[in-house]
Amino acid sequence: MPRCSTLCLMLFVPLFGFLAWSAWQAQGPALDNPGVGAERETCSPCHSDFAESHAESAHRGLSCSLCHARADEHRKAQDPSKVLPVVDFRAESCGVCHRFQYETYFMSEAGTPGQFGGTPADPQAHPKTKDFPLYNKIVAGHGFTKEYNEDRSHKFILRDHIDVKRPKNAACLNCKATPVAYYWGRQWKGVTLVESAKWEDVIARIPKEMLDYGASCTQCHDPHGARLRVINKGLEAAIAERGVNPYWPEKNARRFEDADSQQKAILVCAQCHVEYVCGPGADKQVRFVFSWRKVRDLDDYYRKAFNYQQDWVHSLLNEPLIKSQHPETELFWESKYERAGASCVTCHMPKVTFNGRQVTSHWLVSPLRYIDRHLNQQSLGAFPCAQCHTVTPEVLRAQVLRVQQHVNAAQQRVQQALSESIDAIAAAKQASQQGTPVDGALLQRAVQLHQWAHVRWENLAVSENSMGFHNPEEVFRELNEALDYARQAQMLALQATNRAARAPTAR
Ligand code: HEC
Ligand code: HEC
Ligand code: HEC
Ligand code: HEC
Ligand code: HEC
Ligand code: HEC
Ligand code: HEC
Repeated sequence: MPRCSTLCLMLFVPLFGFLAWSAWQAQGPALDNPGVGAERETCSPCHSDFAESHAESAHRGLSCSLCHARADEHRKAQDPSKVLPVVDFRAESCGVCHRFQYETYFMSEAGTPGQFGGTPADPQAHPKTKDFPLYNKIVAGHGFTKEYNEDRSHKFILRDHIDVKRPKNAACLNCKATPVAYYWGRQWKGVTLVESAKWEDVIARIPKEMLDYGASCTQCHDPHGARLRVINKGLEAAIAERGVNPYWPEKNARRFEDADSQQKAILVCAQCHVEYVCGPGADKQVRFVFSWRKVRDLDDYYRKAFNYQQDWVHSLLNEPLIKSQHPETELFWESKYERAGASCVTCHMPKVTFNGRQVTSHWLVSPLRYIDRHLNQQSLGAFPCAQCHTVTPEVLRAQVLRVQQHVNAAQQRVQQALSESIDAIAAAKQASQQGTPVDGALLQRAVQLHQWAHVRWENLAVSENSMGFHNPEEVFRELNEALDYARQAQMLALQATNRAARAPTAR
């Protein structure tokens, strides 16, 4: 019985794909091909859900075996579960027909169009400490002090995770590799994908073609229904608990399928561009949970849900703090852009004309890169902002940088205040250890104020990647509070030592 090896698949799938694509270019998609319908009927008895969504979709003209080689042998086998067809997660399997989306998805052009962020050619040469010089003190003892660089493009999602010098665990791979996100909680190639799975075991099962990009087309597109979807189980659980957008009651559908198109286009990105708890916490328990909350609600939630043990213990303070991940989605909620109807896709995946058709650019990058290409009349140029703005691209571009500079000035003051609050609290604790009387209640209050200041700055200024652009009003308000909390923390820590020294009997 002839078996098709990976190599043969790499030759044949593109060939079939090319033929199908050529036919479709010539006469439009053969959507209701009777041969495909007949084949689908043979699968339906055992796979009715897939067959149904396929029958109604733009993919209904594509035979199942086009994507699932050996499907025929599988179907006819005595025990179909012993002769499984091929399941292909590689972007290449879609790219044969969707060339434009495939090629733009893998674009990666080094450069920093603004003052912050950008796509570094060499991430090692762009540590985050360039923009945040006191960062390693403020997160002392956390893995991020070992290495934390400016991010690169989607072409390197998994590669940059593999190469980074930080502890890794299998749960992280939910946002780095599509097969892991898809099968999470189930068996995959003989390994059970749960928090306790070994990272190395999971990595070893990822197709080698996917080792750089990890996240494939099917992260956002259902291959059977040919429509947007989400597969991240952390996100699915968060939606089930709090809805698709907990901060917009009118739009807060309870299922992805019931969300409107704007919310769907936010949710596909929210599979990864959110704050989540992932990996071992201060108490060594391994978790994978989306908080699905704005920064103002985070501290309270983590105290209640995890007793504040979800992240790590600061090595100078000897107190637990929150270490946030990239909360682009949570910051975007309530922004003027969101309320005006924009989604992440509006600005980061503009529509462009290619071969006379309107298509979606899949180059996930700073919108300034699209604006610059538009101004230079280069291919892939776009000015998606024109949907809402009437000013010229030059004026709007300059205004983006101005907003970011103001946010940067505000965050620098908080950074300094956090550093001084750490010094004051650490000094009070040291004094206490050396026998100097210290007012414990005041010091405890100082620690809490520091925790509140810390999460606001670290989450919104450092971990969030737009330097405030996505929602400057919220960032200014929270940084303003953070500055006040950090200075109060510093003052109370000083008072805790002084007051207790003046009136030792009062304790
Ligand atoms: C008689 C029942 C039956 C029929 C008919 C059948 N399958 Fe299956 N299929 C199965 C079983 C059983 C499995 C294994 C499920 C599991 O392990 O969870 C499976 C698994 C699969 C998988 C997943 C393989 C993997 O590695 O996870 C694909 C893809 C698949 N079938 C496609 C098809 C297609 C396409 C057809 C029609 C051409 C078809 N099947 C017809 C029973 C069937
Ligand atoms: C455009 C390519 C494509 C076509 C056409 C296609 N599939 Fe799939 N199928 C996939 C991919 C990719 C997966 C991996 C799971 C996922 O991404 O949803 C998959 C997974 C499956 C699975 C396993 C799901 C699981 O959770 O283990 C079954 C069963 C299946 N397909 C059946 C079918 C049947 C039946 C048809 C035809 C009616 C079909 N597929 C047509 C791409 C395709
Ligand atoms: C053999 C060619 C072929 C392959 C392989 C293929 N597609 Fe398609 N796809 C088509 C055709 C034909 C259409 C319908 C015409 C169109 O909308 O451009 C389509 C439509 C789509 C659409 C748009 C649906 C809409 O409503 O506009 C999406 C999204 C899509 N495919 C995603 C994928 C993904 C993801 C994969 C890989 C798992 C894939 N396709 C593999 C041929 C293919
Ligand atoms: C991060 C999510 C994401 C990933 C990954 C992704 N897409 Fe898309 N794709 C989208 C969104 C969003 C749209 C626009 C859909 C809309 O406007 O309804 C889209 C649209 C499409 C369309 C419809 C035609 C068009 O250009 O508007 C096709 C076909 C498509 N994508 C194919 C692919 C292929 C092939 C890949 C992998 C190389 C891929 N996509 C990866 C989010 C994604
Ligand atoms: C599977 C997880 C995942 C999904 C889904 C995802 N992203 Fe990303 N994104 C990442 C990771 C991880 C990086 C950093 C990659 C690196 O450092 O190698 C990144 C980087 C980026 C960057 C910076 C690129 C650069 O060149 O600096 C932008 C912009 C971006 N994503 C936008 C989006 C948008 C918009 C969506 C939704 C349409 C989206 N992403 C969906 C994981 C994801
Ligand atoms: C109104 C337009 C707009 C919308 C909507 C938008 N962004 Fe952005 N985004 C920007 C701008 C402008 C920047 C700053 C780019 C720069 O500094 O080069 C940015 C920066 C980013 C970056 C960092 C890029 C880099 O170069 O490092 C990521 C990641 C990102 N956005 C993701 C998202 C996600 C996810 C969403 C949806 C929740 C979203 N954006 C919604 C305009 C937008
Ligand atoms: C869906 C509509 C929409 C889109 C698309 C949009 N914006 Fe806006 N933008 C707004 C609204 C609403 C305001 C607030 C206007 C006002 O207050 O009059 C705004 C304000 C701004 C401001 C001033 C911000 C401040 O805080 O001072 C800048 C800068 C800006 N937008 C840049 C952009 C850029 C760059 C893009 C494209 C990448 C873009 N916008 C796309 C709706 C949009």
